Amino acid sequence: MKIEELRKKAQKELNLIVNIEELKEFERKYLGKEGEITKILKSLKDLPQEERRKIGKTANELREYLEEKIEEKEREIKLKEIEEKEKQEVIDITIPGKKIETGHLHPLTLVKEKVEEIFMSLGFSVVEGPEIETEWYNFDALNIPKDHPARDMWDTFWIKSQISNVKCQSRKTKKKPNLLLRTHTSPVQIRYMEKHNPPLKIIAPGRIFRYEATDASHEINFYQVEGLMIDKDVSVANFVGIMEKFFEAFFGKGTQIRLRPSYFPFTEPSFEIDVTCSICRGKGCSVCSYRGWIELAGAGMVHPNVLKAVKLNPKNWQGFAFGLGLDRLTMIKYKINDIRLFYSGDLRFLKQF
Ligand code: FA5
Repeated sequence: MKIEELRKKAQKELNLIVNIEELKEFERKYLGKEGEITKILKSLKDLPQEERRKIGKTANELREYLEEKIEEKEREIKLKEIEEKEKQEVIDITIPGKKIETGHLHPLTLVKEKVEEIFMSLGFSVVEGPEIETEWYNFDALNIPKDHPARDMWDTFWIKSQISNVKCQSRKTKKKPNLLLRTHTSPVQIRYMEKHNPPLKIIAPGRIFRYEATDASHEINFYQVEGLMIDKDVSVANFVGIMEKFFEAFFGKGTQIRLRPSYFPFTEPSFEIDVTCSICRGKGCSVCSYRGWIELAGAGMVHPNVLKAVKLNPKNWQGFAFGLGLDRLTMIKYKINDIRLFYSGDLRFLKQF
């Protein structure tokens, strides 16, 4: 068949095409591997040169022409399909829209914000520290040298250090530090005192990590709020006063708090602050380990060795520090009987706040 006749035939067929399937078939018939035009192009090699040039040119022109026409037809078919669909679609503008669910703050964040608000109203600033700490800030500077038994209490996850040399301000040495996931927020005390001169009043909320067994009131990662007040004349009475103000603002009047003597290497004297268990109302349950009281915070007067570690003279400066367990505070506020619920990602639990 002559090429001109082939063009006419193809054009006729193309005009009759109404859907994509037919168009694909058409494309295969003329331009496919075994297509009419492909066949002509393949046979060129057997023709004399003059004829090869002439037929090759017209066959290629026809190929380009059909390619263009196929594209045009495809656009036309698709447009028609859309128009048809639009005609069938009825939009009822009176149907109510789908409600987009909005998120909300996690109970731990709600409590963290409340704690910050209360302490700021008492003149404290809110500061932060890193979750990955050096051994020096987490232990040594807090009067817990290597091999001190207190290190067992705060066992943690150690990290293979990628950092080459870090300079600690208070130790003018440059040394590759041992890194760990901080076991408490107390290192922030050191970091802050290295950079700021007293008098100072700060709280430092943040996430901390411990290598220990979990139960209803113990997690391997949880939140603490560190507190620190340093001035010329700060006493235990100031500490008790601030704590009473805080707990009254947080729980309202009537919640019972008790101070117990304790031991921390970085405070002297040291205390533990307990609050009546709101879940069993003091009768004893798994959350309070059947004691009727829940331990909320460790605290005490800053040890002279800690002040010395940040180049402060303990004869001139003194103060108190505390580390409040934010998770336990939240459990008592909302009567939650298992700390693990906070990290479970269970929406049935989270949606209640
Ligand atoms: C400390 O972490 C000290 N850094 C606190 C401190 C700060 C003392 C400043 C003196 C001066 P302790 O390990 O007791 O102490 O933890 C403090 C609080 O964190 C506890 O009272 C408790 O509320 C909470 N806590 C401790 N371990 C866990 C745990 N595994 N899961 C949840 N909360 C915990």
